[in-house]
Amino acid sequence: MTADPRTFYSTVMLAPIAGVTDRAARTIARESGCPLAFSELISATGIAMRNRKTLAMLEICRNEHPLVIQIFGKNPIQMEDAARLISDIGPDGIDLNLGCPAKNVVNHGSGIALTRDLPLLAEIIRKVRGATSLPFSVKMRAGWNAEEITFLEVARIAQEEGVDGMILHARTRAMGFTGEAFWPWIGELKSAVTVPVVGNGDVRNGPSAARMIAETGCDGVMVGRGSYGNPWIFGEIRQYLATQESPPPVGLAERIEVLVRHIHLVVEEKGEPKGVHEMRKHVGWYLKGYPTVKEMRRVVNHLEKTDEVVIALQDWAKDFPPDLIPLHTETEPASPDGLSLGIEDREGIEQVSDLQ
Ligand SMILES: Cc1cc2nc3c(=O)[nH]c(=O)nc-3n(C[C@H](O)[C@H](O)[C@H](O)COP(=O)(O)O)c2cc1C
Repeated sequence: MTADPRTFYSTVMLAPIAGVTDRAARTIARESGCPLAFSELISATGIAMRNRKTLAMLEICRNEHPLVIQIFGKNPIQMEDAARLISDIGPDGIDLNLGCPAKNVVNHGSGIALTRDLPLLAEIIRKVRGATSLPFSVKMRAGWNAEEITFLEVARIAQEEGVDGMILHARTRAMGFTGEAFWPWIGELKSAVTVPVVGNGDVRNGPSAARMIAETGCDGVMVGRGSYGNPWIFGEIRQYLATQESPPPVGLAERIEVLVRHIHLVVEEKGEPKGVHEMRKHVGWYLKGYPTVKEMRRVVNHLEKTDEVVIALQDWAKDFPPDLIPLHTETEPASPDGLSLGIEDREGIEQVSDLQ
């Protein structure tokens, strides 16, 4: 049975982040209190061409609930085919990426580039809508740059063509991931459409989520970089929204325990040494703000085996009390090159150039 979009999008959710929110990260987030997760962006061209690697990404999603699968592309027939195939696999929703600014996506005419061709955008949304009865959302940015703010026009078309929800990352393409997200745009969107609106950009904890909801009236909140090394953020936000109080920060022993489980899940999905390499950034994120982390990471970054990493982490943690909390609990935004760090090596995106 498909979910009622009104309630489906009225929650706190994990954003799609290429190279970060793989199945392992989504599982950990869910186990730590996240009610809804989005897949990384997946190429509709890859799906339409039945590309082995792209289909493997979908296969991974098969038993995950609740999950929204995000697709990107520019070919209406391929998007329709992708939406049909995804619906058969049975996630809980489909999302269309209208915000990705990465060069290899934009140059292909997908991601935010689609919002500069509104007739094509309308056709794509119509085709996807016709191919699925699942909750169907679009995730967009405010526009190309300060001179080209298009989200209200994009939203009008998307609503007319029957989407069930909209997510707005309150930045333009030109802003990248820098500066502050401009939340008033989220409020403008909420006033302009009748479908649920999810606000996104710079939510870092319970108070900032509450502030976004109060200032914009958005129905749901999406968290991206604030979840780096902090899968507990979803529980924290939910508790704060319910009680105006945050739970105490998570201590070292629990962090290590969840990090170790995260490492095992990544390696289970991607094997050694790839999974171990991919976990290096997570080690830094989970343990940010503890003493001597730099030195420990220097060691871990040379290890190739899961067991060696786990032993190194546990040895390092022995020097501290198990309930020690980090000096800085606030998760900082990713560096501006975070996108290339995560996105350039994504198989789904590499396929774009292979397949077009
Ligand atoms: C490394 C990286 C990869 C991302 N990948 C995607 C993606 O695959 N699909 C998407 O819609 N947004 C993607 N985003 C954007 C995030 O979903 C989110 O909109 C953005 O980070 C702002 O939210 P935040 O301030 O909570 O991080 C990515 C962001 C980063 C930093």
